[in-house]
Parts: sequence; C-alpha cells; structure tokens
Amino acid sequence: MEQALKSLLSWWEVAGVDVPDIPKAPPRRRPAAVKAKPSKPPVANPTQAKPESPNAAPQLAKVKTLDDLSKIIAGFDAGEISDHARQSVFARGNPEADIMIIGEAPGRDEDIQGKPFVGKSGQLLDKIFASIGLTEEAFYITNVVNWRPPGNRNPSPEEIEICRPFLDKHMALIDPKIIVLVGGVSFSALTGRTGIMKNRGQWTTLTVNGRDVPTLPIYHPAFLLRQPVLKKDAWMDMLALRAKIDSL
Ligand code: URA
Repeated sequence: MEQALKSLLSWWEVAGVDVPDIPKAPPRRRPAAVKAKPSKPPVANPTQAKPESPNAAPQLAKVKTLDDLSKIIAGFDAGEISDHARQSVFARGNPEADIMIIGEAPGRDEDIQGKPFVGKSGQLLDKIFASIGLTEEAFYITNVVNWRPPGNRNPSPEEIEICRPFLDKHMALIDPKIIVLVGGVSFSALTGRTGIMKNRGQWTTLTVNGRDVPTLPIYHPAFLLRQPVLKKDAWMDMLALRAKIDSL
C-alpha cells in the first residue's frame, strides 16, 4: 500500500506537482520471544569509508567554451546516475539565443538521442514556445542534471548537487537575458524554493555573471500532458514571456 502511494506521489512529483512527504510506517517490532543479542561495537574499517561525491569543480577551471564543457561532462563519472545512462545529455538550440530554458533531467528518448527535450514532452514544449513565435533558433535548452536518472525517477538532491557546477558554468557561458525554469525540480534546484504550482508565471531573478537575469518558472510539459486543462496557465506564462522578450 505504502509502495503504491509512493509510486503515485513520485509520478506527480516528476510532473512538477508539490507533494507532501509520505509519513514513514512505524518500524516493525521484533517478536518479544526473540531477544536481540547485544551487538559488538563495529570495527572501524578504513577501506569501507563512505565514498566522497564526485566533484566536478576542479575540472571546470580550464573550461572556456561550450565544447570544452560538453566534453568534460561526457567523460565525467557522476556515480550511479552516469553509470546507468547510455550517454550524457548536454543541450540543443542556439547558444547565441537570449533565452535559456532549463528542464529537470533527460528521459528515455533524450538518453537515446543525447539531446534534451526530444521526446513527447519535448515536442509539447516546442509547440508551447512556437505559440509565441519562438523556434529552436530563439532559445537554448538544457537540464539541471546531465544524465537520465535510473528508471526515470527524479534526480536526487545529491545528483543535482553533483551536476550543479556544470550548470553554473553552462549558464555563465550562455549568459542569457532571460531564463525559463521548466517544472518543480528545476525551480527548486535553482531558486532553493518549492512550490511550482503557486510560483509558475511569477517572475523571479537568478544571478548569472554578476547580473540579475529575469527568470520565469513554468509547468513541466509532462504535467501538461496529463492535465491539459492547465494549458491555459501555460498560455498566460507564454504571453508574459513574449512581453518580456519584447521589452528587452
Ligand atoms: N524532461 C526534462 O525535464 N528534460 C528533458 O530533457 C526531457 C524531459
């Protein structure tokens, strides 16, 4: 039962909805007849020390171009997330564009093709942007994490942190005039806040290269595929984006 609830909530979370934490089931008690023996204190084994998280930062000092960055990411060992992926997923679109779109994590199609937002939700995202006249020439798109999380689960906070130096460098190299955050994971990772439902369509700012960049959180297209009635909100957000672009 708890498992079924977890899967349902995890789907909603992937779709960008704020979900409550599931209360943990109380630990099962050992039957009274079986008394646990007092355990021996654990013997310290230096070879079993907790491995440190992969650290991307040192390699980034030499990165000067997008090509340098994509090569470093492609060769980086990010632990479980890169072990299970076919390849890293870097970006698509126009690096000279004013608008940088940041999604959550690659899915199955992106893992196969090596490009972000090329599956069903990517096709919807392209249509949403096309509705205000923006084709791939007008934007540059990437994700918070560069590998598909195993089983399409949400990226863990640790995986987001591992990929964060790559994303910071990516944003600095693109130097966008406007940022669009797609979905709750991207919104939380970059703003440190939660609540895509109440924050979508509300402009905020992110600092890139010392400059405040207007940033718009929007619903994830995977969520809109399940909740088409909310496309009207997505349309309002696109109108706000169009107005901001026209004011640049
Ligand atoms: N969802 C995302 O957030 N990013 C992708 O690249 C694909 C689906």
